[in-house]
Amino acid sequence: MSSLTLDQVTQALDWLSLHERHKPLSKGERVVLMAVWEDLKFKEAAERSGFDPGYIATVASNQLRTFIAKALNQGQPVNKRRLRHFLNEHTAALLRQSIQQLETESLPLAPTNNLIEVMGGRPPEVLDFYGRVDELRELRQKLREKNCVAVVGPPGVGKSALAAKLIESLSTEPDPKFKSVIWKSIFHGPSLPELLVDLHKLLATSSDTAIDAEAPTSQLISALLDHLRQQRVLLILDSVEAILQGDPLSLDPYGEQYAEYGMFLRRFVEEQNDSRLLLLSRKPLSHVERLVGSRRSACLMKLGGLSIAEARSFLKGQQVKDPKNWDDFVDFVRGNAQILHQAINSIEEFFGGRVKAHIRYSLVADPYFLESWREQLGPAGSSTTLERWVVSYVAQQIERGIDPVPMSQLLEQEFPGTPPELFVTIRHLSQIDLLIKTQGETEVVLSLPPLMKKYLLSRLSALLTGNVQ
Ligand SMILES: Nc1ncnc2c1ncn2[C@@H]1O[C@H](COP(=O)(O)OP(=O)(O)O)[C@@H](O)[C@H]1O
Ligand SMILES: [Mg+2]
Repeated sequence: MSSLTLDQVTQALDWLSLHERHKPLSKGERVVLMAVWEDLKFKEAAERSGFDPGYIATVASNQLRTFIAKALNQGQPVNKRRLRHFLNEHTAALLRQSIQQLETESLPLAPTNNLIEVMGGRPPEVLDFYGRVDELRELRQKLREKNCVAVVGPPGVGKSALAAKLIESLSTEPDPKFKSVIWKSIFHGPSLPELLVDLHKLLATSSDTAIDAEAPTSQLISALLDHLRQQRVLLILDSVEAILQGDPLSLDPYGEQYAEYGMFLRRFVEEQNDSRLLLLSRKPLSHVERLVGSRRSACLMKLGGLSIAEARSFLKGQQVKDPKNWDDFVDFVRGNAQILHQAINSIEEFFGGRVKAHIRYSLVADPYFLESWREQLGPAGSSTTLERWVVSYVAQQIERGIDPVPMSQLLEQEFPGTPPELFVTIRHLSQIDLLIKTQGETEVVLSLPPLMKKYLLSRLSALLTGNVQ
């Protein structure tokens, strides 16, 4: 029998726990599971995850084993040595069941007084979440006021994690605004009718007539909006960048294939009362910007990285050494949660905990960021000619020793577009951290994020022409 991964067994037990105990596995129990799965001593697993070893070895371990004994072994205890083998045998079927159920049904989320249902898909789990108090407050406020809220930020900054935390925090409200949440990642680029039919199935009650998937899209939209008017749903669409295939400066930023999304968004914004739409995107959403501009019920929120203080708590929690170099490190990666996470292991494994050495030798070659830059700026990516022009112009100036570059200097160049298009482009690039726009003493000045400077300056031309190794 092939072995399950730690993620799979955690998912299966989490699901079982929600059903049997009406709460997910605790963080401590997850650490115990990790120790069992990766054959670690409790002390080692506790240290890795910032828990007290005594708590993991006794309290959390007993809780998990008691739960497993009751739920899977008719009350008979299972000792630690046998636990992995036992779970491998007993959780594969559970995993299948949980996946099937997740696809068709809803799942109670957090152990609170007001269970909020999450349907459609599963938000990411964030075990050690730091900071973001202000952002969560802002997001909740915006969702109270507007029908559609779009969160835009670079890859790995923490958009999905923030939305996952939002769902948890909604469950703790004394008078929750939403009866349920739908989480849908559209990274695979479904057509609008496909998505609408999917959503309709989730929301339809047994007395509703079945939806005709072949009906005109406008009817499918009307049917969905009817459901949403009746049910107070928070609809979260993650990875919205997948449907932004058109020119962001044109009237159709979605492109031909996804043009109907524009109609859906507009109708949602104009016709909704109680339900809300939350969009998460690593690319700017010019359509939402336009709706905001025309004072429709929509708003945008740019998500930047963790602040120095938040990132310091994170690094401390992960027991990273060398605190005097933490601020430089956080500045360098602009508080990007994903890069911080990825760096932790290599700092310890290859640099004996020396953060400075990591910045110097290994921060440049991060394939994750290189890939996302290539995706956005490379010729095969979906960036516009003007976007590529701005980034490469600023990079060339920096190479010549002009950093930051004054806005007036850019305007004097022959750029491929009009000044208003240039302004929108600069705004967009800075929303996703591909450009740093600040107010200088007398005018706006532009630069590149430090990581990009370090990496791109030597290879910029190769990146823009597609010859990056
Ligand atoms: N506030 C936070 N504290 C700790 N880890 C975080 C935080 N925000 C995000 N992360 C982690 O950083 C990684 C990237 O976050 P994610 O939400 O997937 O980014 P995005 O959706 O913007 O691409 C994930 O592993 C996530 O768990
Ligand atoms: Mg995400």
